[in-house]
Amino acid sequence: MLNKPKKLDIVLYPDKRLRQPSVKINNPLDESIQQLIADMKLTMQNANGIGLAAPQVGKNINLILVDDGSGPKVFINPVIIYSSRSQNIFEEGCLSIPEVFGQVMRPEKVWLFYRDENNKFHFKISSGLEARILQHEVDHLRGVLFIDKTLKITQGTEKLELYESNAK
Ligand code: NI
Repeated sequence: MLNKPKKLDIVLYPDKRLRQPSVKINNPLDESIQQLIADMKLTMQNANGIGLAAPQVGKNINLILVDDGSGPKVFINPVIIYSSRSQNIFEEGCLSIPEVFGQVMRPEKVWLFYRDENNKFHFKISSGLEARILQHEVDHLRGVLFIDKTLKITQGTEKLELYESNAK
């Protein structure tokens, strides 16, 4: 039996946990994983987020949530196997780097394999906002943040400098 979902603390940049690579989930049906999924859904919705990766709640495992407006979707052990040559630029933010936004260039379309929360295996071709969020979240699983890739910070340069100075 799962517990009532609870809101989790979001790990904030420059916490080192955001830089650690995540590991594969062996059993998505494990109760601790199912509880984490429920807790992460609540946490993301509560923060008005459109994506959340497990490292952002302190768990370095291959689990992400994406909500492109059609409701939260769960991606376990996602692997992007193809990225389109065509790219676009979009403004991104991150719940772990509050009030900072920047332009990031990414492929428009990706093909990926993943498992859902019922351990069902999927192949998906994704484009649009979903592809954008997916790539941002999959980056989190490798310890990569949008500020590593940004062409230009469009909002919150001072905030970013403040976060970085606090770390020293
Ligand atoms: Ni993020």
